[in-house]
Amino acid sequence: MEELKARIIKEGKVIGSNVLKVDHFLNHQIDPHLMQEIGKTFAKAFKKKGITKIVTVESSGIAPAVMTGLFLNVPVIFARKKRSLTLSRGGLETEIYSYTKREKIHVFLADGMLKRDDRVLVIDDFLANGEAALGLTRLIEQAGAQLSGIGIVIEKSFQEGRKKLEALGCPIFSLARIASLQNGKVSFLEDVQKQTQINL
Ligand code: G4P
Repeated sequence: MEELKARIIKEGKVIGSNVLKVDHFLNHQIDPHLMQEIGKTFAKAFKKKGITKIVTVESSGIAPAVMTGLFLNVPVIFARKKRSLTLSRGGLETEIYSYTKREKIHVFLADGMLKRDDRVLVIDDFLANGEAALGLTRLIEQAGAQLSGIGIVIEKSFQEGRKKLEALGCPIFSLARIASLQNGKVSFLEDVQKQTQINL
C-alpha cells in the first residue's frame, strides 16, 4: 500500500536494527484517514473469503480491525490482555510469548463471541515473531471457528513471523513488508526484490 509506505518513510523512526516506531499514525496517535484506507484495502483483499468476523488483540490492532470491519460489514472482536469485570472467569484463553518484550501474557475472549460457523479474519498492526497472531488463531481454533485469512499492517519480513503464519495455510496479506531496518533506513521487500532483478 503506497500511502502507508510513504508515511513510514516520512514519519517512521528506526530504533536499533529491529524496531520501527510509528507512533504518529498507528501505535499512539492514530490517523483516521489512513486507517480508513487501510480498512478499505484489507476489505478489498479479503472480500471473496466470506468473512463473518474479525479478531484482533488490544490495543493497536483495534483501529485497523474496526476499519476493516466497517468495509466488510462484519463485527470486530478484540482479545483482551487482562480479564475485565465482565469477563472475570471462563471464556477462551491462550498464552502468548513476546520475544521483543521477553514476557508471557495471557489473552482472553468471552464465550460465545465466535461461533463454529464463523469465518474469521485476523488483523494486527505489526508482525514480528508472529506470536500474537498465532495466539489469536489458537483462540479461533478453541472456538471451533474457521481461520480464513490474516491481514497485517506492517510486516517485518526479516523476522520469523511470516514463515510461522504461512505454515497455517491460510491467505496472508501485509500492507507494507519491511526487508530490513539496517543503518536507520527502512527498506521494503518489493523494492529490494526489484533492485535484485535489475542487478541480475
Ligand atoms: P509478535 O507478536 O509478532 O511475536 O511480536 P512481539 O511479541 O515481538 O511484539 C510485541 C509487541 O511489540 C506487540 O505490540 C507488537 O505489535 C509490537 N512490535 C513488534 N515489533 C514492533 C516494531 O518494530 N515497532 C512497533 N511499533 N511495535 C512493534 P503490543 O505489546 O501488543 O502493543 P499494543 O498493541 O498494545 O500497542
